[in-house]
Amino acid sequence: MEYIETANRKLDEIRQREDIVILAIESSCDETAVAITKGRQLLANAIASQIDIHKRFGGVVPEIASRNHTLAIDGVMKEALKQADMTLDDIDCIAVTYGAGLLGALLVGVSYAKALAYATQKPLIAVNHIKGHIAANYIAKPDLQPPYLCLIASGGHTTIAYVKSLGEVEIKGTTQDDACGEAFDKVARVLGLPYPGGPQIEKLAKDGKPTIELPTPYKDKDTYDFSYSGIKTAVINYAHKKEQKGEELERADLACSFQEKVTDIMVNNTLRCACDMNVKTVVIAGGVGANGVLRKKMSERAEKLGIQVYYPPMILCTDNGAMIASEAYNMIKRGAKATDIDLDANANLRVWE
Ligand code: KG4
Ligand code: ZN
Repeated sequence: MEYIETANRKLDEIRQREDIVILAIESSCDETAVAITKGRQLLANAIASQIDIHKRFGGVVPEIASRNHTLAIDGVMKEALKQADMTLDDIDCIAVTYGAGLLGALLVGVSYAKALAYATQKPLIAVNHIKGHIAANYIAKPDLQPPYLCLIASGGHTTIAYVKSLGEVEIKGTTQDDACGEAFDKVARVLGLPYPGGPQIEKLAKDGKPTIELPTPYKDKDTYDFSYSGIKTAVINYAHKKEQKGEELERADLACSFQEKVTDIMVNNTLRCACDMNVKTVVIAGGVGANGVLRKKMSERAEKLGIQVYYPPMILCTDNGAMIASEAYNMIKRGAKATDIDLDANANLRVWE
């Protein structure tokens, strides 16, 4: 029997079960991650971060990321099995991120997952990374039910998505230039902070005040879209002018002003959209979702509007395998077919694909 027939037969056998055991692999950027879930329960979440390797370059170097995924992936999978106290025999299904992300990095995870699925004759599920970020919320809150609005705030995305049903996503607003995480990382560089910039800016901003005026893009436009390049450029220009005048840069105030502005815009757009659509649940997803100011601001303002806010724990906001397992579970429940062994990575996969 062909692999795909066996895989689909096995998938149909497990589909109705609540306790499906999924081993999920994520390698789209600079984390090599493998998680194991049983239903909505997280049994293992092994992550090998490459942050220290890329720090000295000021950002992720794609070729170096791919090489390090290759070196790490086998050990990370063994670590995940150890954490879950399982062997491969206990796994029902293999899931993997196939896009979006860095092509070479994605290919390491995709190739590994395909080999594993074929060798064990287990079904393979190909997962969209961004839908994975959204699905991290189901691990944190297993009874979360669509419809809800999701703010996806990551290194590559700033998007407001209306999640109509499991996996059915409608885009309400998105960035027209830089993603919010990208802006955090670029501004951090100007402030002399290492990669990744988000957590560093958050730390520095604690010592500052939002005293520096920065522009508000799309102020008079009727849109839920975002634009961050103007704010980023304003920060860069401010820092350069200070340098030219030989004045000391108020780094903490600038970090704080930037963070306040960026988070204000995200919260305002998301809650305005929720009110306009009469949606009562908002969730946050993605690496920038780990930002404490964003989480607090969203919760406090939403409460006044009678809107519930949920977000995953910080470790499930930045890239991880658990979110991929969670979306694979959603896909299986929705009736997804197994992916064949000719699966390719798609660096430019979009949120709704
Ligand atoms: O979701 P993620 O891990 O990877 C992508 O899919 O892009 O997001 C990474 C981004 C980076 O730009 C990083 O600076 C940002 O998330 N980030 C944060 C924080 N933690 C990570 N941004 C703001 N505040 C944080 N605490
Ligand atoms: Zn991500």
